[in-house]
Amino acid sequence: MKTLLTGGAGYIGSHTAVALLEAGHDVAIIDNFANSSPEAVKRVELITGRQVSLYEADCADKDRMMEILGKEQPDCIIHFAGLKAVGESVELPVEYYRNNIDSTLTLLECMKASGISRFVFSSSATVYGEDNTPPFTEDMPKGVCTNPYGWTKWMQEQILTDAQLAGCREKGGWKAPLSVVLLRYFNPVGAHESGLIGEDPQGIPNNLMPYISQVAVGRRDHLTVFGDDYDTPDGTCRRDYIHVMDLAEGHVKAAEYALGHEGAEVFNLGTGSPYSVLGMVEAFSRACGHQIPYEIGPRRAGDVQDSWADAGKAKRILGWEAKRGIDEICRDAWNWQSHNPKGYE
Ligand code: NAD
Ligand code: WQD
Repeated sequence: MKTLLTGGAGYIGSHTAVALLEAGHDVAIIDNFANSSPEAVKRVELITGRQVSLYEADCADKDRMMEILGKEQPDCIIHFAGLKAVGESVELPVEYYRNNIDSTLTLLECMKASGISRFVFSSSATVYGEDNTPPFTEDMPKGVCTNPYGWTKWMQEQILTDAQLAGCREKGGWKAPLSVVLLRYFNPVGAHESGLIGEDPQGIPNNLMPYISQVAVGRRDHLTVFGDDYDTPDGTCRRDYIHVMDLAEGHVKAAEYALGHEGAEVFNLGTGSPYSVLGMVEAFSRACGHQIPYEIGPRRAGDVQDSWADAGKAKRILGWEAKRGIDEICRDAWNWQSHNPKGYE
């Protein structure tokens, strides 16, 4: 199968490229490097010993997309490209809506014109909103998002679902019925076992694991835990942290599934097991061999107390489940961070 990964130089895309190549599939990548480096793609080639076609391009550039889709003729597109910083999306909502929504609309138009009909989309558990109670199941109604980033995911799910419905109809204009797979990621963390690729956030990390990793390697002096007065056993929020290579392998299964099915299907990609913030601090401290210094701060606006997946549907239908546990997550995150203290720089 030939796959085209938009945003494939980024954190999840680069790991997915490895998993696809190792499963024997071909990979082409489009990225504008807004939040990534071409070095990640070189390292994907180094890990796998295989070549990737790399295009520097913006997914919202219709002429370039038509040209690349025409040249590559992929069997399936996996659409990772997007801006993802929650806080920044509150500051720059128009830029977030423009980039994330435009990319998806442009891709759909170009796919339709090029006769490509398999689409796998990077969605997020954030679409469950604040009012559903975990474990989240795919048939729960989508909730109210707490920030523009979350709404872009919510809206893109809707756009893709509507396009799929139209694409099933004879007059939809699609040459083949559209197949859409919406993957709701929980909290992707960790790195490839080689330590050659991993998460490389620009500036101060927004997310817990890269922040802990940078404290562990001495780039920051301590972690601030956002609130210890939640109604949980240790008072800190609980999340479903999933190893990025498990997530990557989930994409291989999803792309293979998209090839053989029509319709729009939603899958959670999570482990089903939550860990608290302090639980993660302890696990990482074990992995790096010293205690991560932290202090307790106020709650962060927009945080939900609890979020974890019901991971049953992906297991039943895709035959996929997360295999790596918290100790492997922290071991691999530390391996990446300690060997690349400044990321790809
Ligand atoms: P990332 O920032 O590392 O990767 C996204 C990539 O898309 C980057 O390489 C960036 O340069 C590229 N990009 C952005 N806009 C583009 C455009 N218009 N044209 C071409 N390239 C563009 O992020 P990631 O963590 O790998 O996330 C991948 C996808 O998964 C994103 O859509 C993100 O919203 C989604 N997601 C991520 C998480 C997470 O915690 N990392 C959770 C849920 C969903
Ligand atoms: C995890 C826990 C924080 C940093 C976000 C997005 C979501 C998805 C994944 C991606 C929370 C606590 C964090 C710190 C802390 N996005 N924390 N100190 O918020 O679950 O999900 O990333 O594209 O849409 O919202 O992940 O890693 O930011 O936080 O105490 O310095 O760690 O309060 O409880 P979150 P996170």
